[in-house]
Amino acid sequence: MQVRNTKGWTAGRMLALVAALALSSSTAFADAKSKVVILATGGTIAGAGATAANSATYQAAKVPVDKLIAGVPELADVADVRGEQVFQIASESFTNEQLMTLGKRISALVKQDDVDGIVVTHGTDTLEETAFFLNLVVHSAKPIVVVGAMRPGTALSADGMLNLYDAVAVAAAKDSRGKGVLVTMNDEIQSGRDVTKAINIRTEAFKSPWGALGMVVEGKGYWFRAPVKRHTTNSEFDIDKIEKLAPVEIAYGYGNMSDMAYRAFGKDVKAIIHAGTGNGSVAKHIVPVLQELRGKGVQVIRSARVTGGGFVLRNAEQPDDKYDWVVSHDLNPQKARILAAVALTRTQDSKELQRIFWEY
Ligand code: DGL
Repeated sequence: MQVRNTKGWTAGRMLALVAALALSSSTAFADAKSKVVILATGGTIAGAGATAANSATYQAAKVPVDKLIAGVPELADVADVRGEQVFQIASESFTNEQLMTLGKRISALVKQDDVDGIVVTHGTDTLEETAFFLNLVVHSAKPIVVVGAMRPGTALSADGMLNLYDAVAVAAAKDSRGKGVLVTMNDEIQSGRDVTKAINIRTEAFKSPWGALGMVVEGKGYWFRAPVKRHTTNSEFDIDKIEKLAPVEIAYGYGNMSDMAYRAFGKDVKAIIHAGTGNGSVAKHIVPVLQELRGKGVQVIRSARVTGGGFVLRNAEQPDDKYDWVVSHDLNPQKARILAAVALTRTQDSKELQRIFWEY
């Protein structure tokens, strides 16, 4: 006997309807492309040279985001993309205020259900600093991929189009979630925390001292590692709760150096990053000014001009405990500055700062 409900539907017909809905939604889900927003800030990826032979002589920050997207129609094969022009600058000109503006825009976008991933096109000079900053302060597991180019789009063998295609493919992929902010350059997927611009005029410019996380080949990511340091959703820092980054400057170490830079910075900063020789060494004639500044509440953070696969060891050649200094661990000076500028919005305690440098 067939049982009918008040609308006269048999159980069998209801089951068939449920199955059809499930299939259509799963089919629709399978067909639905990830929604990726491309935030353009300028740089060489938006650069233009006078001739195709100009791979190193060009003007950065010329091509608008809609033309970048139109220049790679294949983006539509991997994601449903739309663009926003946040800035149009060469990245050496980035300010703390612009970092905050970019971070807050990304934080707002990743909260939207119609956004599955973010790509930031960026000049390569300070790309590593922006990527690390976003890694520290944006609370989302959605992929955020920062990408640049070493040659303008007008040049022979320009690298920007494939880098952008790779970035969108990685930002659209579910297996990119939860890995922190990423950088795609030259077929590689790098951690935004680790990567640095190691070479200034080659397409294979970006290196991570601990290796890439993976590769992108024909729009597919291949993963071999995942980050272990705290980032994004596991970070104690939140862009939505930060008004202004702390002022932090970097002084470069070298033989026969003077203490003039430290004295000049000392008046206006919350911390000085010492980009020391070797393992963050401090010349003995520099110690007095550092102690004077430390006594006025300025944090001293020992980083090193030597990078690429080591880290500054606490209390090795330098008595960090005695002088109440902080060490930057494996972070190069420019990344140490970013972490200090963020951390000092939450604490002025040197022991807390040292914990933060171990953990992020
Ligand atoms: N002016 C540099 C910058 O915007 C160009 C380098 C590049 O983007 O590759 O970072």
